[in-house]
Amino acid sequence: MYRRDFLKLAGSAAGAAAVYTFLPHVTIAGGRPVYTISTSTIARPSFTAPEIVKSGGAIPCAMSATAKTEVESAWLHGANGGSRVALSLETGGTAEGAPTALLPQSDPDPGMYDLFISAARGNKKRVERLPMAVKIVEDYKTDFEFGIISDVHFGDPRITADIPGFDVAETFRKEIAILNERNIEFCICCGDLCFLPPETKKQIAEYMDTLSARATFPTFTVPGNHDGYATGSTSKINFDTYKYWRRTFGPFHYEASYGDIPLIGINTYEREPKQRNLYGGFGESLDMGVIGAAQLEWLDATLARTTGSAGGAAIMFGHHNPTNTFMDMNGPFSVLPFSETGRLQLLGLVEKYSPDYFFTGHLHAVFAEKYKDTNILTVPTAASRPAQGHPIGFQIATVKNSRISSIETIEMLRP
Ligand SMILES: [Fe+2]
Repeated sequence: MYRRDFLKLAGSAAGAAAVYTFLPHVTIAGGRPVYTISTSTIARPSFTAPEIVKSGGAIPCAMSATAKTEVESAWLHGANGGSRVALSLETGGTAEGAPTALLPQSDPDPGMYDLFISAARGNKKRVERLPMAVKIVEDYKTDFEFGIISDVHFGDPRITADIPGFDVAETFRKEIAILNERNIEFCICCGDLCFLPPETKKQIAEYMDTLSARATFPTFTVPGNHDGYATGSTSKINFDTYKYWRRTFGPFHYEASYGDIPLIGINTYEREPKQRNLYGGFGESLDMGVIGAAQLEWLDATLARTTGSAGGAAIMFGHHNPTNTFMDMNGPFSVLPFSETGRLQLLGLVEKYSPDYFFTGHLHAVFAEKYKDTNILTVPTAASRPAQGHPIGFQIATVKNSRISSIETIEMLRP
């Protein structure tokens, strides 16, 4: 929800109470929001691109490239209650995306934290919140588990047509409970959080709220085609889901890490807004994966730095699988998942740097294949209609000596 809409709705105490009921990610005091979920001052760490940091260490952070506000103060607050830890900001310069660090003024206890920023523009001030943006650990483990989810699809009616009474949110909550029980270090999400615009904004907020209310782990999320859908006429876009993602969630592609293990999230639905228009007449090609030259250049440099040309234990994740080995049979068409725009170049980088694993979604199915030296996995849908013969569920990876040793598929339901 935009701040101006929010203030309009929150004009009275009764209105505020009603808004709070539907938007648990916004807290109200005296009819006004206490904070805004926003990445407009600090872009990272954010909800979708969190940082996992050792207690006492500096938290790497990047200012938003379009920031018009200045940081007055920043602090961490325990995501599930807990304590407040003041942060000081060390800026590395004013250039776009200049690296900065947030330094805790006392050693935070291990656990999940929301990042808060008091941001100012002239004499206008507001508090921005980045939920679940920081996890503090005592040390990085070499033996641990992490989760992989995809295609959660809040707002998707397809599954309830197949299974009356099926509840996306309830299923997702049960999956989070299993991941909490397994005490995973982090989770990866390969996109498609929502269904159709303009409700996508609300549906993405529901994904964020459900995780931030329950999960005891951070989740690295990248967008899928549904997260990028726009609406409008063939010549004019009225609503663009990506705009909401950008100012609320953070970057579309990024480099993150767990200790020495690089976690590289890519955006495989990198199209111009008009090419993401649901009503633009693109038919079956609308959903196909696309990756542009600038992102490929970034990926080349990132993989070179993090894996070395000899290869390393890097983990990649994105929505569309560029091998096109398996058809997308989930919509009204049977279609190849990835277009030819950037597909072979992306595969070329996978071959050149040999990341250990590349997790993808999109097909609502479970597949495993080897491309050169990389395991490319297709992760099941967490809470939407699966492809025929495939389950609803998610995966858990077991890591031993900092390398993935096995992948387990947890089936929630097989329609
Ligand atoms: Fe999907």
